[in-house]
Amino acid sequence: MHILITAGPTREPLDPVRFISNRSTGKMGFALAKVAAEAGHVVTLIAGPVTLETPARVRRIDVETAGQMLEAVQREMQACDVFISCAAVADWRPAVCSVTKLKKSEMPGVLQLVRNLDILETVRPLKGHRCFVGFAAETGNPEQEGMRKLRDKGLDWLVANDVTEPGAGFAVDTNRVILFSSDGREERLPLLPKVEVARRILACVQTSFTSAGMV
Ligand code: CTP
Repeated sequence: MHILITAGPTREPLDPVRFISNRSTGKMGFALAKVAAEAGHVVTLIAGPVTLETPARVRRIDVETAGQMLEAVQREMQACDVFISCAAVADWRPAVCSVTKLKKSEMPGVLQLVRNLDILETVRPLKGHRCFVGFAAETGNPEQEGMRKLRDKGLDWLVANDVTEPGAGFAVDTNRVILFSSDGREERLPLLPKVEVARRILACVQTSFTSAGMV
């Protein structure tokens, strides 16, 4: 299979030295890329700004903003069978980005933000036979929010976790997730290394392909 994965945060600049972003380090997305490549799949990894090394035999495309990530996904979508949207895409960006560094005297007391497009929703018309997998990093209620995002974003699988649980948040090498599928399956995994979580996610994706007769 050809698997397209997004990973890491995006950065939304305010000026050449400041940005808004989030705590994602890209570990889960990079673990998925590593495990998929080791299993013999063709892997394209679209990465936000992270400090991780590219796994062997993975084609990596670096981006910074949500807009750039969307463009890269749109460009790469045609060639893929599976799209795993693991990135913590910034939902908002500053309404204005100054080309020069803002002096503190010029800084607005209130920052005006505009909504970024939702990447999964934007590329949904291109889905066709492809398997789409999304993530939901929640602070409480991962079941309810996970099911909502599975439905609202038209996904085949949704991987939900509660980032406030010990060992399951950002910047750690373990995760505890629940997988929900559009055909009603639910898999609750124990706390596991992210590479093992990645293996289980890929196994689930594989079952969707097998049941659709597309191995
Ligand atoms: N996502 C996306 N484009 C965005 C934001 C999120 O494609 N602009 C994807 C993420 O990669 C993830 C899924 O949507 O697979 C859920 O992301 P999340 O931030 O949890 O959801 P939101 O849609 O931002 O919902 P909310 O803010 O209501 O929690």
